[in-house]
Amino acid sequence: MTMPGLETLAFSEIRAKLADAQLVKFARGMVLFQTEAVPEKLLALRTVEDVFFMLERITGLGHGPDALRVLHSASLRADIATALLLWRRVHTGKRAKTWRVVSQMVGTHGYRRVDAGLSVIDALRRVFPSTMHLVEDDADLEVWLWLSGSEALLGARLSNATMRHRTYKHEHLPASLRPTAAAALNWLSQPTDDDVVLDPLCGAGTILIERALLAPYEQLLGGDKRREAVAIAERNATAAHVSATWQTWDARALPLDAASSTRIVTNLPFGKQIGTHAENHALYQALIKEFGRVLAPKGVLVTLTSEDRLWETIIREQGWLVQKKVVCVILGQPASIFVAHRS
Ligand SMILES: C[S@@+](CC[C@H](N)C(=O)[O-])C[C@H]1O[C@@H](n2cnc3c(N)ncnc32)[C@H](O)[C@@H]1O
Repeated sequence: MTMPGLETLAFSEIRAKLADAQLVKFARGMVLFQTEAVPEKLLALRTVEDVFFMLERITGLGHGPDALRVLHSASLRADIATALLLWRRVHTGKRAKTWRVVSQMVGTHGYRRVDAGLSVIDALRRVFPSTMHLVEDDADLEVWLWLSGSEALLGARLSNATMRHRTYKHEHLPASLRPTAAAALNWLSQPTDDDVVLDPLCGAGTILIERALLAPYEQLLGGDKRREAVAIAERNATAAHVSATWQTWDARALPLDAASSTRIVTNLPFGKQIGTHAENHALYQALIKEFGRVLAPKGVLVTLTSEDRLWETIIREQGWLVQKKVVCVILGQPASIFVAHRS
């Protein structure tokens, strides 16, 4: 599972890191693929939020209550033994003692989501070892059921919340980016070992920390106009064992030499939690001029904003070429990632 809109990007990371990965299908926020890779490799993916072992995929599911019987018999076939082996492997030998079913439904069906969940539970009771207990919350092993139109997927969750929240992010700020989205921005920047990466509006530092955890680099530079944000970025980086240079600055007039960065990767104020739409007109104009000054001629600029129209107009007017635009959902609102070069 990944953030909606980032599915193809997540699959490009999967393909780069797991050479045998074969795509089965994309769905909203999901990539279904086959691999022989060990589960630890999957849990190390940075643009992915959760990893599941697919138990069953049912297509051509009817809309009426007969579908419940189909779900029941598919669940009876689920390879829970392999799911438990994989779970144990990624949980360093611990045995799962409890299980539960989480069900999600998209679209209208002739039965209720809870009845679909109960049907799966009834079947899985016969499949799980009798030593394991069914619980309502906080289960060791979660089996997720997704129902969308005539398709159903049943998956055993191998990851837990630390995969998407990471362990270093002790301190948050409003409008702070999810680490997986920060990793996606960096992935799009086409990292190279000699990158000098700049985040001029660093907030809690997520983007540069994720850059360090994604690929080798030469130098990381981050700053923000709020001193408390810089202090938080510094502490989060220390918790992640990442060394970067942090400064309090105004991103419209950076204390940096011309052409000194090879990558600028940043999350602009959306004009909602931080700044306003009116302020963004002037801010974005000033920022693109300064980014143009400090970025090396062959450098790559990766930006994220929900003010896509405003930003795209400004960067094109200033002579930048938009190589790629990825539309995604950030904090519940549509936003775009722009990958741009100087023309
Ligand atoms: C969307 S947030 C960045 C969030 C960050 N990526 C994170 O994960 O925490 C935008 C940041 O830009 C900063 N900012 C706004 N105007 C600025 C300016 N002129 N110079 C430097 N920083 C600025 C804000 O203080 C805020 O932290």
